Amino acid sequence: MTTAQVTVPPFAVIGGAQVRCALQGREHQLVQLVEATYRLHSAGESVNPPSYFLRFPDRPSARIIALPASIGGPVRVDGLKWISSFPANVAAGIPRASAVLILNDHDTGYPFACLESSIISATRTAALAASAADWLSRDRPRPARAGFFGVGLIARYIHTFLAGTGWSFDEIGVHDLSADSVAGFRGYLEQSGTAARITVHDRAEQLIRSSDLVIFATVAGQPHVSDLRWFGHDPLVLHVSLRDLAPQILLASTNVVDDVEHCLKADTSPHLAEQLSGNRDFLAGTLDDVMAGRVVVPADRPVVFSPFGLGVLDLAVGRYVYDEVARTGGLHIIDDFFHELRRYG
Ligand SMILES: NC(=O)c1ccc[n+]([C@@H]2O[C@H](COP(=O)([O-])OP(=O)(O)OC[C@H]3O[C@@H](n4cnc5c(N)ncnc54)[C@H](O)[C@@H]3O)[C@@H](O)[C@H]2O)c1
Repeated sequence: MTTAQVTVPPFAVIGGAQVRCALQGREHQLVQLVEATYRLHSAGESVNPPSYFLRFPDRPSARIIALPASIGGPVRVDGLKWISSFPANVAAGIPRASAVLILNDHDTGYPFACLESSIISATRTAALAASAADWLSRDRPRPARAGFFGVGLIARYIHTFLAGTGWSFDEIGVHDLSADSVAGFRGYLEQSGTAARITVHDRAEQLIRSSDLVIFATVAGQPHVSDLRWFGHDPLVLHVSLRDLAPQILLASTNVVDDVEHCLKADTSPHLAEQLSGNRDFLAGTLDDVMAGRVVVPADRPVVFSPFGLGVLDLAVGRYVYDEVARTGGLHIIDDFFHELRRYG
């Protein structure tokens, strides 16, 4: 490409309402997009360095994570998700997580869009969880009893993606430390039109024992579930919140992760299992290994999927939103955002 053809792209801002409109009701399509991007990543067609955790001595429960990434292949997009987790927000009635996603132009590096990204993040998380539920249950009876352990925004999105990709349940169990969360999630489930019988479990043990698909989406910082007998019925566990299970549970299960190097960090349960066992033998492989048939998931052990969450998936969903908003003529361009465009004025 010659220098003359390179121009600075216009800079757009895409708010949450536009993001939601672009993504709503497209669960099948988004699972396909996320799976395809995840496969590109697993084939080495991405750059996805470790997430950077910004923490604060004066606010120990809070963090802001930077996830820079680049997707190659036909998608060709670079960018950064910048996502805050302030768990105390929930008591004030606002969501824990808030985020923006910056998309960068492939040729000039110029940022060309800033998107509200809590919805994009929840969407890519739920899409990969739904994909994992499908792939990891192919060699076992399809779960009909789902148990949601921790029922905030991510649990809601995961249920929406499971339902939107053809899952239906006879029973849905709900467990959370907060009565408000239980009431909110129950209300969401009732409005979702699910035919499942909804049961609220006060005790974690009851929820796990009565579910063959268990979804962890708490904000626990360290393991609080350690009794292996609760898993005697060999459930499929989507361990989305990553730090709920004692390492002993993982060592007695078939473990699948999204990305080995990413997941064995930051005191996740797989990271603790590696420290306890001194090796990585407890990992069966990645979800990509399962998709490609390199790993078969036995039905006679619990299977635990621990997805660290990859910036490339945010980028792919963000790019999809950008293209949708552009296609429908809804881009809000900030004129003159990059102003110093002649080096010497
Ligand atoms: N792996 C990924 O890719 C990925 C992506 C996004 C979010 N997440 C994780 O998902 C989790 C949930 O996010 P959210 O936005 O829904 O949070 P949220 O604050 O909206 O909801 C979390 C819920 O968990 C409950 N909870 C906390 N500790 C609990 C415990 N020990 N037992 C039972 N319930 C408990 C809280 O009361 C709350 O209702 C977070 O840990 C977040 O980091 C993971």
